[in-house]
Amino acid sequence: MGRYDLALIGFGGVNRALAELISQRGHRLAEDLGFTLRVVAITDLRAGSLVDTDGIDLAPLLAANPGELNFAGLPGGSADPRNAWVIREVPADIVVEATFTDPAHGEPALSHVRWALESGKHVCTTNKGPVALAGRALKQLAAEHGVSFEFEGSVLSGTPVLRTAQRLFGGLEITDVQGILNGTSNYILGRLEEGVDLPAAITEAQDLGYAEADPTADIEGHDVQLKVMILANEVLGADLRREDVLCEGISAITPHEVRDAASKELRWKLVGSATRHQDGSVEARVAPLALPAHHPLAGIYGPVNAVSFRTDLLGTVTVSGPGAGRIETAYALLSDIIAIHQRHAVDAAAPTRPVLLETHHV
Ligand code: HSE
Repeated sequence: MGRYDLALIGFGGVNRALAELISQRGHRLAEDLGFTLRVVAITDLRAGSLVDTDGIDLAPLLAANPGELNFAGLPGGSADPRNAWVIREVPADIVVEATFTDPAHGEPALSHVRWALESGKHVCTTNKGPVALAGRALKQLAAEHGVSFEFEGSVLSGTPVLRTAQRLFGGLEITDVQGILNGTSNYILGRLEEGVDLPAAITEAQDLGYAEADPTADIEGHDVQLKVMILANEVLGADLRREDVLCEGISAITPHEVRDAASKELRWKLVGSATRHQDGSVEARVAPLALPAHHPLAGIYGPVNAVSFRTDLLGTVTVSGPGAGRIETAYALLSDIIAIHQRHAVDAAAPTRPVLLETHHV
């Protein structure tokens, strides 16, 4: 049975949840998937870094209070995250990048991904920044080094929306993508409809763990802007920059407007959309829209997300599921690891390509 050694970059909620999955379900996953997973390095801004090329014992780390984790005193540990050294030098098969997203320049995650790919390591990430801002260049870099760059969790966490479009929509022409791509703003709009005011609804979303560290990204649409860029680039073949995507959030919507719309069978939703025009250009935007009750996104409530694809042969196809949450997002990483395994195990097992001999006439 094969094994993949992982370097976890960032040990916040998501990578910690992946470590829990490996620790608690490793045997079952091995039976199901045909490979085992071992963590050989962990880095974290607060806890420092920990390296054991024989495999880190995850149980004591997971038993500790996350806020009190400190790798400095442990064998192979340091107070310094040593990200560049860990990513480049520690022998690992897959670098799992789950640090925070900086929507302006994608750093430091962008450098983490580059270093890993340049070192010949596969990368999976839930981090929107590097994918939205440099996805095309990073995929090229991965191809040059014969490794995979996977990022299912960057949109709709573990709900397989990117892989569905890439693998299951063969032969279809997709002209439009429309989605509810932010659980926090969708939860808040639902609470406004129930009469809760905006500051109280934001606090609730933070307490429930849906919101980003700075909820401004959720409320003002910047989180959706990055996700729309990823969908437009991956599904519609665009190459959009942030400034190409008009962005308006939900902060100006009042509870009165939301309730008034509901009384007319309209539902306010923060919608990210991208459309491919006949000339091949792609237009994308983020804006609150009052959707009629029959719209496929109108019935999506709470932290649930959904994406509707308009296709030529099937009409509109909608995928819906969780768009946030630590376990749900950790599952996206596991699905990326499975995709890496499927691609490279198949490549390794493929028979050598037959050599075509040139016929020389003498
Ligand atoms: N804060 C985001 C949301 C998390 O509410 O959808 C996932 O990107």
